[in-house]
Amino acid sequence: MKLNSSLLQLASCAVLLASDACASTLDKRILDPVCVQIAGAISSASDVYYLGHPNYSSDNNHWASSSSQVSKCSVQPGTAADVGIILGILGSTQTPFAVKGGGHASNQGFSSTTGIQISMKRFNQVTYDAGTQLVQFGSGLIWDDVYAALAPTGRNVVGGRVSGVGVAGFTLGGGYSWKTNQYGLTVDTVTAYELVKPDGTVATVTHASDPNLFFGLKGGFNNFGIVTKFTLKTFPQTQVWGGLITYTVDQISAVTAAAEAFSSTVTDPKASMISAINYISPLAILGPVGLGVSQLLFYDGPTPPPGIFDAFLSIPHFTKDVSTRSFLSLVQAAPANVASGSRGTFQSSPLLAYSSSVLNAIVNETLFWGTRLSLKTGILISYDVEPFLPSILSHNNGLASAYPASRSTAYLPLNLYFAWAPGSSIFDQDFQDAIRASAARITQVAKDEGQTGVDTAPIYPNYAISGTPLARIYGSNVAALQTLKQQVDPNNVMGLAGGWKV
Ligand SMILES: Cc1cc2nc3c(=O)[nH]c(=O)nc-3n(C[C@H](O)[C@H](O)[C@H](O)COP(=O)(O)OP(=O)(O)OC[C@H]3O[C@@H](n4cnc5c(N)ncnc54)[C@H](O)[C@@H]3O)c2cc1C
Ligand SMILES: *[C@@H]1O[C@H](CO)[C@@H](O)[C@H](O)[C@H]1NC(C)=O
Ligand SMILES: *[C@@H]1O[C@H](CO)[C@@H](O)[C@H](O)[C@H]1NC(C)=O
Repeated sequence: MKLNSSLLQLASCAVLLASDACASTLDKRILDPVCVQIAGAISSASDVYYLGHPNYSSDNNHWASSSSQVSKCSVQPGTAADVGIILGILGSTQTPFAVKGGGHASNQGFSSTTGIQISMKRFNQVTYDAGTQLVQFGSGLIWDDVYAALAPTGRNVVGGRVSGVGVAGFTLGGGYSWKTNQYGLTVDTVTAYELVKPDGTVATVTHASDPNLFFGLKGGFNNFGIVTKFTLKTFPQTQVWGGLITYTVDQISAVTAAAEAFSSTVTDPKASMISAINYISPLAILGPVGLGVSQLLFYDGPTPPPGIFDAFLSIPHFTKDVSTRSFLSLVQAAPANVASGSRGTFQSSPLLAYSSSVLNAIVNETLFWGTRLSLKTGILISYDVEPFLPSILSHNNGLASAYPASRSTAYLPLNLYFAWAPGSSIFDQDFQDAIRASAARITQVAKDEGQTGVDTAPIYPNYAISGTPLARIYGSNVAALQTLKQQVDPNNVMGLAGGWKV
């Protein structure tokens, strides 16, 4: 029985002489019958938290504050069996809930809720098997944790590129990594999922045990249950080379020329880069105000061959932090969290090529929306130019995945990211309308210059804005995923949680 922690919080509220937070805790939160039912049913490995508890705050907290909501309580399950018990109660009481891994969802309601917030934080083990060269890790971790645990083994996984991103949503949605040019998307490197099904049973899902469900989990997020552990292939990891260079507005055309040349000529799969074309508003304290570029360089080895990155290195920079370093150090060199805590939204415009006309349109969009949206508390308007090799979808050993539906063309997932002030929810709609319009404009420019299919291409679900039609994400897989969903979750328990629902 787990009523103790609730009673403890009641007692501490009494001591605090019924502050407003405690009053509402007493009235509405502690007495929420479903929270109480869960607290009474889970084992001592798990806990329920209410408003006012630090763990309640961290369980509800998201990288983008607009992705956070006020839940009735949070629960940290500590065992897969407890996850099953919780799903049973949520299903029988028809209670809305959310499942959070690293909390980097860019849409509200995907891993947040006004119902019951599940945090996977206690699934935090990393176990490497030197015999099979597979690593198993918990779904509550961030990639930094997995990289740190693997560092002494000389092996690594195909995971996140910057610090703080959760393993769960990333792996359940696709996964574009620094190592994707060599080994494919993260979904192509998964060998097993430990899944708590909507009926509460715990299963290890592999291609051999259940090929359909294995396919569905590769891009299908929380549609089929709650994943507690992932097993991934590992690959050799030496020291790497790269880091961050920032450029001011006067160098933009030199940087876009270097980006175009890189994306159209470099075929070494160990080389990768992201040019983040940014407009930084006077509201931010991130560096020079206005247009600029945060350039990330990566080479999967201690020294890149000559030629690959020379153009970027010869452009006069504002700051430069490029060196031979550990993989984790490179990941932590990216300025990924300068606007975390702001409200935020992502959208993507799939492309076939980063041509000069597309890059010019991106720069124009950055300036256009940057100047306009800074009047609405805009903080950072950013376009992440992320070239990949056309061969990245060929590393799947013939195994299909929910995302992407087709392996014939590797569209490039340009990521748009707009951030605005934490308190400015009145502007949410303006920013969402703007980011949709901006992505559509870039798509149009690409289409006009002959990039065929970009207006119907799959949109990467981890970058897509709320409201994107399922067919734009899962393409010809929608029907197969809906059939699978009927089989695995006939009572639609997972429909009580948000996200891309099939
Ligand atoms: C700063 C930043 C950098 C990024 N960089 C990259 C990148 O380099 N490459 C890339 O591909 N993407 C990148 N992304 C996008 C990223 O992949 C998504 O935000 C991803 O969903 C984050 O996973 P999470 O666990 O942190 O998210 P969460 O918000 O915790 O979850 C996201 C979704 O997954 C579901 N989910 C979470 N845990 C589980 C579970 N255990 N079982 C079932 N469903 C679950 C949630 O319900 C939700 O629908 C980045 C995002 C940010 C904010
Ligand atoms: C808060 O959550 C962390 C992470 O799961 C846990 O280790 C800690 O014991 C929790 N604190 C309390 C007071 O329950
Ligand atoms: C710049 O972008 C805006 C908004 O999409 C558009 O209206 C304008 O025509 C663009 N300018 C150029 C030169 O492309």
